[in-house]
Order: sequence, then structure tokens, then C-alpha cells
Amino acid sequence: MESIKKCDVGGKKVIVRVDFNVPIEDGKIVDDTRIISSLKTINYLLENGAKIILLSHLGRVKSKEDKEKYSLEIVAKHLSSLVNAPVYFVPQTRGDILEKTVENLEDREIVLVENTRFEDYPKSLESSCDETLSKYWASLGDIYVFDAFATAHRCHASTYGISKYLKSYAGFLVENEVNMLKKAIYQRKTMILGGSKVEDKIGVIDNLINTCDKILLGGAMCFTFLKAKGYSIGKNAIAEDKIEYAKSLLETQSSKIILPIDFISENGVIELENITDNDILMDIGPKTIERYKEVIFESNLVLWNGPLGKYEDDKYENGTKSLMKYIYNQSIVTILAGGDIVACSKKFKINFKFISTGGGATLEYLEGKRFKTLDRLNG
Ligand code: 3PG
Repeated sequence: MESIKKCDVGGKKVIVRVDFNVPIEDGKIVDDTRIISSLKTINYLLENGAKIILLSHLGRVKSKEDKEKYSLEIVAKHLSSLVNAPVYFVPQTRGDILEKTVENLEDREIVLVENTRFEDYPKSLESSCDETLSKYWASLGDIYVFDAFATAHRCHASTYGISKYLKSYAGFLVENEVNMLKKAIYQRKTMILGGSKVEDKIGVIDNLINTCDKILLGGAMCFTFLKAKGYSIGKNAIAEDKIEYAKSLLETQSSKIILPIDFISENGVIELENITDNDILMDIGPKTIERYKEVIFESNLVLWNGPLGKYEDDKYENGTKSLMKYIYNQSIVTILAGGDIVACSKKFKINFKFISTGGGATLEYLEGKRFKTLDRLNG
């Protein structure tokens, strides 16, 4: 990957693909991590005299209603409060207004183009990497910077498509996340895996098991494994078709896979052996927390994906929160990968240095998949 630093950007029209796919509720951005994370690249380009053309998607656009719901205008407003430069919002993805705004752009000014996925309705042009659309967007700029790691697993017109027609570079967010995740893949580590479905994480476990000293399981994930070991897991759901997988992993990697020994149910603390069919398990219990702390104490690197309990509810946040605080206070290098665990760190106001902005992209990267868009960032 060639860094943006390798390119003289002064006076050039630089198309930057960012991922401003942020959660919006009641017309307000509820988490601007992805916007904040893109500022390093944007500010670098401003300082070096570039004209910046920002492209991003927001949501998935499959109808007229989606187009009303997913405009990037609100993001443009927020962005202009974060940068020291004019931000012009263009309410179209192609056409006269866009072309004129780009033409008249001065050095150190920014234009944010409307949601690239507006091109997905009525025809799926962005998501199918339509050739004409890719060429059109590429024609607006002199060089292309990809800084949307969270979208790196998609081959869309605004990602892979444009990179075929312009010299393409990696932005700082992408560089940082790729370096961080490579470290997470290749270095010895403890992995904490929580969150939901086992099937979402199998690829990650398979790819990383050899470089993991221990894997600590929690969240909805762990119930399939406990069931495979013959424990009652109350009313909690399991991935029935992954029981065999869990069994074989427990057989071959028994020393690495560590499971909870107690839980917080709706009725309080409950030991693993005492769980009845009526219990609903919401968080890991105090003995598990202590056990996991002992493992973490021995670690130099922790990779964490997915919360260990229903953290959104204050009553069931303790497992995730106390382990997170512990890791933070021990100053163990920690990589938080995936939207939910990053949301936890925000809720608990614990500021880790290495946070991946990706959801699906991060998981796929950790599974060892190659991304075509990243392969094109060679200047
Ligand atoms: C994400 O939120 O994971 C990225 O923005 C990609 O979004 P998508 O899954 O809709 O492509």
C-alpha cells in the first residue's frame, strides 16, 4: 500500500473515499467515531493545499424512502463543525451541480457528495461497481485516496471502481487499521470473543487460533460451546448447526478455549452447574471475571471482539466493563475490533488507542481474506 504521504497533493483535486456510515437517530449522529477517525487524512490534505472531494455511503439504499432517510447532509454539517475549512454539500451523486462545485473548488476547501448508494436505486450501480459510474466519479479528481477501512471488503464503484482509473493511495485511517490488524493476526495474543452468532466468528477463530495463547469466550457466543460440553444453558439461544464445530474445537484446542464458570441471570449470580432450563443468562459472573483477569494478566496483547454480556443494560454491563477497565489499567496493548465492542468502550468512557472502525470488514480481515480495493492502493 502506498501512503498518501508519497504524493504531492498541493493544488490537486483529491477524491477521498471515507466511511461516514454513522448511526443516526432522530436526526442526530449518535456516534461520530468514523468521522473523527477520518480527520487525520482530511486535515493532512487541507494543510497541504488539496481540494478535497469526499465520497461516502450511508445505510443501504433500496427504495425512494431510503433516499429520504439516508442523506449525508447532516454529516456535512457535523463535519464542518470539526474542520477549519468550508464544507460544501452537494445534494446529488452526479450532474451539473456536482461538476460545477468541483470545478470552482479552491485549495483547502471540501465538498461532500451525496450518499454514493443513492446510485443503488433504482439500479444497483454503486454496489455492482458499474463501469460508467466508476469512470464518472474518477473524472472529478486527479488522485484517489481510500480511507474507508470499514468498506474495504466491498468492491463498489466508489471504492474499487474509481481506483482503476486514478493513482490511488491509502489514507492514514486505512494505514493505521491495516497495521493494527496485521499485528492482531500475526502476534501472540489473548483473544476475547463475545457478541452474537458463532457462525460470524468461526472464520476468525480458525484463522487466529494458532497465534492465540488463549481464547476467552462470552456473550451469546459461549452458549453453543457450553452446550457442546453438555451444560444446560437455560433459555439462551445457540447455533444448533455449529455444535459439532464447537465440539471438535473443544477437543483439539481444549487448553486454549476458556469458558465462563458462572453467570448473571435475571435472578442474580448463578454457577454454571446450577443453571436450570428456565434461567436467562445475561452477563458473565464474578468468578469468570476473576478467572479471565488471571489469563489477561499473562498477556502482552489482547484482541477483543464482541461484548461479554448485554452491556446496553446497566444491570448486565459489569462483565464487559470490569474486564475492560482491568485491561486498560494494566496498560496491555489492546485492539478493539468491531462496532459493538467499540460502542462499549464509548459507553464506559475507556479510551483505547487501537480501535478498528470496521464491522464486517474487520471480521473478514481477521479471517485472513484479501481485499481487492486495498491491493490497488499502489500510487
Ligand atoms: C459498515 O458499517 O460495516 C460499513 O459501512 C459497510 O456497510 P455495509 O455492510 O452496508 O456495506
